[in-house]
Amino acid sequence: MNILVIGATGTIGKAVLSALSPNHHVISAGFNSGDVTVDLSSKASIKDMYKTVGRVGAVVSTAGLGNFGSFSELDDAAYDLALKNKLMGQINLVRLGRDHVENGGSFTLTAGTLSRQPMPGSVVLSMANGALESFARSAALELDQGHRLNTVSPSFVKETMEVLGMDPTPGLSAADTAKAYVAAVEGDMTGKTLDAQDYAGGTNSRV
Ligand SMILES: NC(=O)c1ccc[n+]([C@@H]2O[C@H](COP(=O)([O-])OP(=O)(O)OC[C@H]3O[C@@H](n4cnc5c(N)ncnc54)[C@H](OP(=O)(O)O)[C@@H]3O)[C@@H](O)[C@H]2O)c1
Repeated sequence: MNILVIGATGTIGKAVLSALSPNHHVISAGFNSGDVTVDLSSKASIKDMYKTVGRVGAVVSTAGLGNFGSFSELDDAAYDLALKNKLMGQINLVRLGRDHVENGGSFTLTAGTLSRQPMPGSVVLSMANGALESFARSAALELDQGHRLNTVSPSFVKETMEVLGMDPTPGLSAADTAKAYVAAVEGDMTGKTLDAQDYAGGTNSRV
């Protein structure tokens, strides 16, 4: 299957690319590099990407910007970034991609466990993640052409924790996180949130 991975140059995206590559042809998209470049915050850029890539069997997004920040200090720009990039950017991948995905194909977006397990400083990310899960759950009911739509909910990734100077012990590796994306692409679920922890062992206990 031809699979377009947006965010393929990132921490999770690189692992998803590696996990999908043995069995699929992966087209990588990133902001600065990749087979194609795209700016998720621009509908024109997303349209250009789809025009360049043509039809694919699946679209996977491991992109989406949003920052941590304390509630009392979050300004309009912090909300705008998460809303325009992580939330609407990924929603627009589905809205603008429907004619570029083959019958029976799928969209997989990235949310995150902060939607259900918030922490101080996670307000805008928790907001965007929760909205993405709800979007996928509801839009999946109306997609035609047999298209499926799911979100993956990663927990903190070990490699990211290391970069942030945190103890990575409680995290999930990017390689283990990638297993949920493979399950979303190769499975038959739709409208679901796939918790990366549930797929890390290679099983999918919730499906
Ligand atoms: N890492 C974690 O611990 C963790 C946990 C839960 C959820 N998540 C979520 O998982 C997703 C990926 O996280 P990550 O840590 O793998 O991110 P990352 O390492 O920072 O990688 C981000 C990827 O997105 C691309 N990108 C950046 N800005 C973009 C834009 N405007 N348009 C299109 N692509 C853009 C980057 O491309 P370039 O490399 O070309 O700039 C890169 O491929 C995010 O939605 C994040 O919130 C991450």
